[in-house]
Amino acid sequence: KLDEALDLVAEVPDFPEPGVLFRDLTPLFGSAAGFAAVVDALGEAVGDGVDRLAAVEARGFVLAAAVGYARGLGVALVRKPGKLPSVAGRVDYALEYGTATLELPSGSVAAGERVAIVDDVLATGGTVAATAELIKGAGAEATGVAVVLELAALGGRARLAGLPVHALRTL
Ligand code: PRP
Repeated sequence: KLDEALDLVAEVPDFPEPGVLFRDLTPLFGSAAGFAAVVDALGEAVGDGVDRLAAVEARGFVLAAAVGYARGLGVALVRKPGKLPSVAGRVDYALEYGTATLELPSGSVAAGERVAIVDDVLATGGTVAATAELIKGAGAEATGVAVVLELAALGGRARLAGLPVHALRTL
């Protein structure tokens, strides 16, 4: 069932730029059975002894909300900049070209909590590394990351040395 769900991920050549093979999860999000299989698997992948989930907009929110409901865990919603009235932490990180920023809402993670990160795709690992830094900055512990797809050639796992990575499928 999980394999069938993951097979719904589409390949789109030359998006967002020539030479890049984009992995489009749209058909997976659109399949009730596929989405359920992936959410169940991510729920197992986050492991036990977790107090909270953290996720980054936009697709990460959809997955983490469902996993949080299934596991009875609240979700810290990490935002792209300028969306939040009150920010507990802000991290700038490097992209292939340029930089990006993520912000943790005030009060969304408590000191001492064990927080698992949920996202759709692990590529370079920049997004997850920044999220883990925000969690640490709040005095909490990042326990690991659960993702649907890991694009191994982009080296995310190595960048996240010390943070357990659970990918439902590695490409
Ligand atoms: C994508 C994806 C991950 C991130 C992975 O998000 O959802 O969050 O990139 O890339 P990285 O490992 O190289 O950091 P994107 O910024 O495209 O946001 P979206 O979900 O709003 O489309």
